[in-house]
Amino acid sequence: MNFFSLCFQSSDYEPSLPVTEKSNPLTRDIDRASPSGIVGMLEACDAQMFQRETGTNYQRLFDDQVVTTLTEVAKRVELILKDPQDSLVVLSGCGTSGRLAFFIASRFNEALKQLNRTLVYSYIIAGGDRALLSSQEAPEDDPELGMLSLQKVCEGKKRVLFIGVSCGLSAPFVAGQLDFCLQHPEVYTPVLLGFNPTHQARDEPIPGCTFTFRSVAQRLQELAQRRKAFLINPAVGPEAISGSSRMKGGSATKIVLEVVLSAAHAAAFSHTPVANDGILQHMREYERAVEMTYQHREGIAALVEAAGRSLQNEGGVCYLGWGPMAFLGLMDASECNPTFGAGERKKRWRGFIRGGYKDLNNNEGPLSSLGPDFCIAHEDFLHQVLPSLTDRDTVLLIYTQSDDLHEVVNLGRKVREKTSNIHAVHHRTDSVEALQQVTFLSFGLNKLCIFDTFWQWELSTKLVLNAVSTGAHILKGKIYRNHMIDLQVTNSKLYRRAARLLQVHKTVAHMILEYTYINQDTLTINRDNNWDKHGPCSVQVVPLALVSLLTGCSLKQVESRLEQRQILRDALEELIP
Ligand code: F6P
Repeated sequence: MNFFSLCFQSSDYEPSLPVTEKSNPLTRDIDRASPSGIVGMLEACDAQMFQRETGTNYQRLFDDQVVTTLTEVAKRVELILKDPQDSLVVLSGCGTSGRLAFFIASRFNEALKQLNRTLVYSYIIAGGDRALLSSQEAPEDDPELGMLSLQKVCEGKKRVLFIGVSCGLSAPFVAGQLDFCLQHPEVYTPVLLGFNPTHQARDEPIPGCTFTFRSVAQRLQELAQRRKAFLINPAVGPEAISGSSRMKGGSATKIVLEVVLSAAHAAAFSHTPVANDGILQHMREYERAVEMTYQHREGIAALVEAAGRSLQNEGGVCYLGWGPMAFLGLMDASECNPTFGAGERKKRWRGFIRGGYKDLNNNEGPLSSLGPDFCIAHEDFLHQVLPSLTDRDTVLLIYTQSDDLHEVVNLGRKVREKTSNIHAVHHRTDSVEALQQVTFLSFGLNKLCIFDTFWQWELSTKLVLNAVSTGAHILKGKIYRNHMIDLQVTNSKLYRRAARLLQVHKTVAHMILEYTYINQDTLTINRDNNWDKHGPCSVQVVPLALVSLLTGCSLKQVESRLEQRQILRDALEELIP
């Protein structure tokens, strides 16, 4: 194992930061890497999820204690599956964690429907269903909202297994829900899933609350000894882009929840008792899926390059997906603006799902009335995007052998008439597809064909899409070393993250950040911690503040200088002495 891969575990490596916020030593130079180099670094980072080193302070995914906890949680789910009357399994989270809660709850409810069983899964996402498709970060700060939405979903239930996901052990929304569960042990059994040790959970006071995330996690830890609560918090290593928990955090969330829920389903419906060995074996299969995905390094790098070129030429990227894979496209697209595009006036990265909201099957139903960004069906793509599509744009088809290939070919042809920049991620389990290959080659499609097994398709797709969107934004210059420098500052966690980047003169940094964020003309301090009121702003707050701090130039001067330069990373290097 590479030295850099392990050194984040040393107690003097960025000691003030939790693992999920540390910068990864493996990706320090990712902003200067080639597309293939970028994919190679992402591969090394993802491999950290499965490291088995012992003797450090950190629990890892394959540790006995973690596997035993997964087994115990699976047994609780099994009990509910066998006797679903008045019972519920609730998955909840914010941002990507909430999107995965939705996705996994839907997938496992679908499995129950096929067996003619009572549906037992529900999801909650901070900000409601619109957050499935766009960033809604302010509600993440609201513990009461979390508690009320849990209460609403569980009305009338007598037994609830609540699984709250917060990769950074940090979201007040989830802390409020866990606190509520702890106060009502007769109904609720709380499970916390995240990727920091408890002592690194966020300890910042939450306005109006007597608890912090850390104090809630500590209470859970105590109860966990008596199996009245469960804590699943292995370290999976720092993110490739510091703090970008949509990547490894999201992948590890998906792996853990799927391993637990499928073990429970196998025990309840196929007479396969839940056991540590089965859990371990399933996790090893995910490890293999990650390895197999990155065997296509050059193919993924070609997609990164194409999407990067589109962004550099002010074009856009569209994912056109079929089946469950399509939601992974919607999810990846929804994460781009908050992570990389604070200054963007137009949404450049969009996802579409074949039948729109009918296929999505979300609680709140169609949301198209919220605006064009919420129009997600292929029909919408044909009307809104196709007419103005050019070679500057990239289109990526995402499908598997289970989808209607005639439909894929038809849509592909329409796109091909407008742009030659069309690619595909296609999963299949066998190699008999000569006919299809010929059909696609006839319209010149650049196809990344991943040969894997059915259940690996989703994780593999997530990894490829994360690589494409992250890599393309790196090529566009939106990353400095391995830090997001153009992030939206829309809640308290992101505010702290931005302030950390501006550590030079802390007080001035806070003032400038608040000044640029809230109002460009008047200096107003956000003392009420109310991020909702202010909403996202179109200014590149962090780079603006950084350059102004380091050069002493006025904000207006810096803003016009930044505007003159296309590549943010280069602009920073040029402007900062
Ligand atoms: O605040 C935004 C965000 O960082 C998203 O990028 C992320 O998916 C979400 O918060 C949830 O974070 P966590 O799982 O750590 O609570």
